[in-house]
Amino acid sequence: MFLNVGSGFGQATKNRAQKGNKASSPSMPQLVSQNGKHTFYVDGKPYLILGAQMWNSSGWPAILDKTWPQLRELNCNTLEVPVYWEQIEPQRGKFDFANLDKLILDARREGLRLVLLWFGSYKNGQSQYVPAWVKENPQEYPRMVDGTGRSIGVLSSLSEKNRNADAQAFTAMMRHIRQVDERYKTVIMVQPENEPGSLGTDRDYSTQATQLFKEQVPAKLVSALKKQPGSWEQVFGPEAAEAFSAYHMAVYINYIAEAGKKEYPLPMYVNAWIKENRFGRAGEHPSGGPTSNMLDIYKAAAPGIDLLAVDIYHRNYMQFRELCEKYGRPDNALFIPETGRGIAFARFHFYAIGDYNAIGVAPYGIDPFHADPNDKRDKEKLDNKFSGIAANYRLLRPAIPLITSLQGTGKLQAAAEEDGLGDELLHFSNYDLLLTYGFPTYKEPKEMTGRVLVGEIGPDEFILIGFDTKFQFRPKLGSGFSTAEFISVEEGTFKDGVWQKIRNWNGDEVYHSTLTPEGVMLKIKLKGLQSDKFDNKPNFER
Ligand code: DGJ
Repeated sequence: MFLNVGSGFGQATKNRAQKGNKASSPSMPQLVSQNGKHTFYVDGKPYLILGAQMWNSSGWPAILDKTWPQLRELNCNTLEVPVYWEQIEPQRGKFDFANLDKLILDARREGLRLVLLWFGSYKNGQSQYVPAWVKENPQEYPRMVDGTGRSIGVLSSLSEKNRNADAQAFTAMMRHIRQVDERYKTVIMVQPENEPGSLGTDRDYSTQATQLFKEQVPAKLVSALKKQPGSWEQVFGPEAAEAFSAYHMAVYINYIAEAGKKEYPLPMYVNAWIKENRFGRAGEHPSGGPTSNMLDIYKAAAPGIDLLAVDIYHRNYMQFRELCEKYGRPDNALFIPETGRGIAFARFHFYAIGDYNAIGVAPYGIDPFHADPNDKRDKEKLDNKFSGIAANYRLLRPAIPLITSLQGTGKLQAAAEEDGLGDELLHFSNYDLLLTYGFPTYKEPKEMTGRVLVGEIGPDEFILIGFDTKFQFRPKLGSGFSTAEFISVEEGTFKDGVWQKIRNWNGDEVYHSTLTPEGVMLKIKLKGLQSDKFDNKPNFER
């Protein structure tokens, strides 16, 4: 049986997460979007996901049990863990929540929040995680067919049977989470499916799919996209197959998400395997996922999805920034649920949070499934791999209230060291800030560790949070002042949103005016002067 695609639009309205069908408690996690500013609330307070994602097959007690110590060292506040349809519903209609219950209890004990990744019908453009009773029965649970007529390992998104079976398991899980976790809110967000789409084909070429593909694009979609009516090929040209797949995938996932929200209205998002790779052809990346060229289709066809997230493994900052720009939109909060884990990626967190108002970031592959954390050499390797991320989280976590209050106001900016970039000039209301990378003690070429978040908290006051970066302020040109004097440079941190001074910087610390390699948070008060008597010394030699 196939879906009536003409009525494919979901029933959800904007901010559905706030208006779940059942009464939600006041502290329900929710994503609030106002005037293009997105804030994710947990326990009624703005939250920033400083996360970590497990490897794919690690959502099992044996692996989780040895991961908790490492997560403590990482200082993350949120763990992203897959929950498998095949694990939850090993036999049709028989649900097993034992592993999920243990996961929730353990995370609660650790003071960690959870983002659950529903590996249901789709995982990276394939359907590997569906239960055996689905895999063994393709007559009942049909697959997509590729251009050569072969049935492939991807469930058809046009099948009502597939969709309903997935939705039934997903809603059972959401109902269960409500029962065991509503009072605690350990689980704060859910990702129905993972990098959905079809890998290996740009669309389903089954007879039914091809028939639908020849029909007109649904009127509601055409009007939401402000396009002229026509066939898929007429409306979308060379992207027709991908647009067709994205629309049906969005409708499919939206149905599942909305059904789940009726049970328990947690915010839900779908993540993308990006198209910004090699030739960028649909099928080489899963066709029908929320790739950057399909975002408008998802927005129109999946109103029950709160945001479309982007997984970024690119190591080049221009590509990283370009993707942040594409996904951080007035109608879409930026969330990066997967990124790399080495030191090279630590600076990207700063861009995402400071310049694109991300509600969260997470390195992928956090658990030591292949390593023994009790073995000294394994442990050292793990520590090295995650040291940059751990340092970020240690520094950023106490500053979450400040960061989230400044996001979207234009008063928060990020800067980071890049290959060949000696310094960077940032502009604020009354001051220019020159940032120079490279801590003086480094003699050899080193990793690009310089990274800083700058918050303008008053006309003459700034918070600097970062690593390995020299800072020099000048009053704005035309202000009548030539020099900025430091009235105070306080090193400190935040406790419950209130600044806690640790010490004052003067002397050599101010002479060098450099954020240390270990990371430091400074509150700086300035005063404009007409003389240049108090100006900072020139940059140290690089
Ligand atoms: C992206 C996927 O979403 C993850 O589940 C995982 O497979 C990573 N790729 C591996 O790099």
